[in-house]
Amino acid sequence: MAILVTGGTGYIGSHTIVELLDEGYDVVIVDNLSNSKIEVLQRIKEITKKDFKFYEVDILCKEALEEVFKTNSIEAVIHFAGLKAVGESVAKPLMYYNNNIVGTLVLCEVMDKYNVKKLVFSSSATVYKMSDYSLTEDSELGATNPYGNTKLMIEQILRDIYMSDNSWGITLLRYFNPVGAHESGLIGEDAVGTPNNLMPYITQVAVGKRRELSIFGSDYNTHDGTGIRDYIHVVDLAKGHLKALNKTLNENQIEVYNLGTGKGYSVLDVVHKFTKSTGIDIPYTICNRRPGDVSVCYADSSKARRDLGWEFEKGLEDMCRDSWKWQMLNPLGYE
Ligand code: NAD
Ligand code: UFG
Repeated sequence: MAILVTGGTGYIGSHTIVELLDEGYDVVIVDNLSNSKIEVLQRIKEITKKDFKFYEVDILCKEALEEVFKTNSIEAVIHFAGLKAVGESVAKPLMYYNNNIVGTLVLCEVMDKYNVKKLVFSSSATVYKMSDYSLTEDSELGATNPYGNTKLMIEQILRDIYMSDNSWGITLLRYFNPVGAHESGLIGEDAVGTPNNLMPYITQVAVGKRRELSIFGSDYNTHDGTGIRDYIHVVDLAKGHLKALNKTLNENQIEVYNLGTGKGYSVLDVVHKFTKSTGIDIPYTICNRRPGDVSVCYADSSKARRDLGWEFEKGLEDMCRDSWKWQMLNPLGYE
């Protein structure tokens, strides 16, 4: 029996596959390579010394997806495949609703048809209205952009599927800010174009691809005026998927968990920690706030600790060091 990983050649998927293979799971990957490179497969093999199946398939294509279910014995699905750029989703909402929502509908239809009813889904902290600083799974929901809406809508769709048939087991994981890379430096986040997110921007400044970091706002109500987020090492996040998978395989229920560290760091905290752990100065300028940003957001992950037995192990220094190692060894990403 194998675990099907959709979006498995992407950033979080590739790290999760390493953990799955290390734990002895059989893995089948489906990805259309719209935001990832085929080279990642070699890197995963290099790290794990294990083999797995890969299908270049778009989850929107039902026939091709069915073929994967027909030819493999799938036990459960970890569903990462999706588009994730907030700004792009505002410009191209139809593309986001089609890819993320229709893609998930097609996947669930095929799963239902082949009687595979165990699913772990990548949701996001972006589903919260951000009316509290420390967010529990019960905090108020409300997205502010099409990307966030797709995550909220998919969560609702999955709840409705479970309501109609409680032989499903579904786990919704709301990630906070995943950063870092595998300690080997062989896999990491391959940001295409100008990075939207803080850590890839910092590493690109460090490697000389960008001149300086723009810090979006220094007048927030925080200890140094810059925005505070809950950064989580991608390997800790990947391990959270194994804990969630284990529970999903054994219980027929739908549950939601935050995956974050519960620790908030400001933009300047990250910049200073990066310099401390790598010895590289990051030049920066203070700019206006970025529209839509909140001042502070971090996770209350006590539910994941309690129910999944999951605990993060890596701190901000590991996140900076590993992000840098990946960038330094792969200045052009997987190219
Ligand atoms: P990623 O872009 O690196 O990986 C997503 C993968 O899905 C890519 O390899 C892409 O080619 C593939 N894909 C997209 N649409 C597809 C389709 N129709 N058919 C087949 N493959 C398709 O992104 P990531 O950072 O690894 O994120 C994985 C999941 O986690 C996404 O659903 C994302 O929304 C969610 N998430 C990410 C973050 C983050 O900050 N990285 C935060 C919260 C939630
Ligand atoms: N920041 C800068 N300069 C940059 C990039 C970011 O100062 O060049 C700041 C932001 O203003 C924010 C912090 O760094 O204060 C973190 O920003 P990111 O873009 O890395 O992360 P966000 O918290 O804004 O967004 C992330 C994901 C979104 C998701 C959101 C909520 O990228 O997809 O978390 O979960 F919607």
